[in-house]
Amino acid sequence: MSIVIAIDGPGGVGKSSVSFEIAKKFNFMLIDTGAMYRAVALFAIKNNISFEGEKILELAKKLKFSFKQKNDKNLVFVNNKDISSIIRTQEVSMNASNVAKNGRLRKILVDKQRELGKENSIVIEGRDIGTVVFPNAGIKLFLTASSEIRAERRYKELLAKGLDISFEKVLEELKERDYNDSHREASPLIQADDAILIDTGNLSIEEVINKVIEIIKERIGV
Ligand code: DC
Repeated sequence: MSIVIAIDGPGGVGKSSVSFEIAKKFNFMLIDTGAMYRAVALFAIKNNISFEGEKILELAKKLKFSFKQKNDKNLVFVNNKDISSIIRTQEVSMNASNVAKNGRLRKILVDKQRELGKENSIVIEGRDIGTVVFPNAGIKLFLTASSEIRAERRYKELLAKGLDISFEKVLEELKERDYNDSHREASPLIQADDAILIDTGNLSIEEVINKVIEIIKERIGV
């Protein structure tokens, strides 16, 4: 029997780190759906394709996604090319949030996400997993934290990467993305009724991971 663990929540809440460790611990495939929206944004920008209209739909249909966990990273491949690093820029982040408003495009990516989860036990992270992509997921988690705490974490990550950016700018962009993601018409970011809410604000990443492991063990009885 394949198991689906759905992890939703806003940007910077720790979804990626938590999902990575959980997938590793239970040896499940990890699907980062945000990376898929980012990939479409990247290729659309590169090829001068509008975020609305038919062309971006054709583009999305052609992309073949796969994921592989290697060392401490979840690598994302499009048509067998590793695009993990080039989709992480601030520019792609902002554009991905706009691409994600397109309801017809979302449908194409949701089908691909379901396909990836068909035969494998998966950890899948995003914004609409528990509500739209896998409404029958065995385990649904919704992570939250204040925008200030999330922006602080993002700011530190960007500083560590050597980027010259102010905390205020990071906070402003994060709030803009939050607004976009939770106010769009198509599959906005909302907690599923049956998702377990975890506030990561006052917890270390290890504490969140341990909490999630406990929840999963209790549910699937391992
Ligand atoms: O999680 P992330 O920052 O990599 O996601 C990039 C963008 O994609 C983000 O603005 C929200 C959007 N997204 C979405 O709308 N639905 C998902 N399932 C995952 C991400």
